[in-house]
Amino acid sequence: MSGEILVTGGTGYIGSHTVIELLKADYDVVIIDNFSNSSMKVIDRIEKITDKRPILINTDLLNKENIYDVFEKFSFSSVIHFAGLKAVGESVNNPLKYYYTNIASTVNLCEVMTAFDVKNFIFSSSATVYSAQNKMPINEDGNLGPNNPYGRTKLFIEEMLSDLYQSDSNWKITLLRYFNPVGAHESGLIGESPNGTPNNLMPFITSVAVGKQKNLKVFGSDYNTKDGTGVRDYIHVIDLAKGHVQALKHNCEPGIKTYNLGTGKGYSVLEVVKTFQLVNGVNVPYEIVDRRPGDIPISYADVTKAKDQLNWNAEKGIIEMCKDAWNWQKNNPNGYN
Ligand code: UFG
Repeated sequence: MSGEILVTGGTGYIGSHTVIELLKADYDVVIIDNFSNSSMKVIDRIEKITDKRPILINTDLLNKENIYDVFEKFSFSSVIHFAGLKAVGESVNNPLKYYYTNIASTVNLCEVMTAFDVKNFIFSSSATVYSAQNKMPINEDGNLGPNNPYGRTKLFIEEMLSDLYQSDSNWKITLLRYFNPVGAHESGLIGESPNGTPNNLMPFITSVAVGKQKNLKVFGSDYNTKDGTGVRDYIHVIDLAKGHVQALKHNCEPGIKTYNLGTGKGYSVLEVVKTFQLVNGVNVPYEIVDRRPGDIPISYADVTKAKDQLNWNAEKGIIEMCKDAWNWQKNNPNGYN
């Protein structure tokens, strides 16, 4: 295969699982990461799983000269861009940090790509770009309108990439809108390792199960859903990773294409908790508390387009998501620390 794949943020949660799938599919991988929310140990674990060691460059995308140097050393065929900040709450409290980090780093990356005539780009976007007013399941034509600064950085980058393509029709761009990634590699060697108290549901459940948190707070039980708790489209991180490999294979024609990556099924908070307890034989005490500001009642994807055009669909169900999330957490109670 000609040219390496550059993976920015390749030691992060979704990035590291994608690197494994890329290596398994025989791509040569170069990772750029600044380790702001990840660990160097990931590289050893990836090697243990795949018997291959990706090249790692410890640098920051905000440093354009360094990125330029990296592009001089390799001949990249495509870039998969994961790197960025992703904590919704933090983005509300510190919006400028989010606008600067996420947007400026993508501008730098695209400028250097242009300079080296590397114009194949896969972007890590999010279902959070959709407006909360849409009917579910939501397809790629749903109304846009994120309700927090993090989500707006994703939407602005999508729009910037669209303008870039309008200005230069040689670009081949795929935007992947992730629903709720959970789970971990089945080996239990890599997984999600959030800094501090987890914000998201599955890492919080596993930290309760491992005894680090007393109980799970279920944010609201009075939504208009099957049991009153919030419903989301949880997708196993390995399925999501495989979606990137398919997107890469299909990113062959100039243009800008957008895909939802989810399972198309919605599970409530209580369904996830109960499945987790049943599958893993562990107790997850919980209490119902007030709704979390900014949460929407239901979000799940119409995944027809990815199935038809990328020849991809999620294969792992909620049972594997719960099993693999717990396998990772119990073997690594402190994540990579
Ligand atoms: N929830 C709880 N208790 C918790 C954490 C979450 O009840 O401690 C509930 C939420 O209220 C929601 C569901 O679990 O109903 C899922 O919440 P998450 O925080 O796990 O995920 P979100 O759907 O809020 O957001 C996630 C990511 C975003 C991403 C979005 C895409 O955090 O970055 O999915 O849909 F954009």
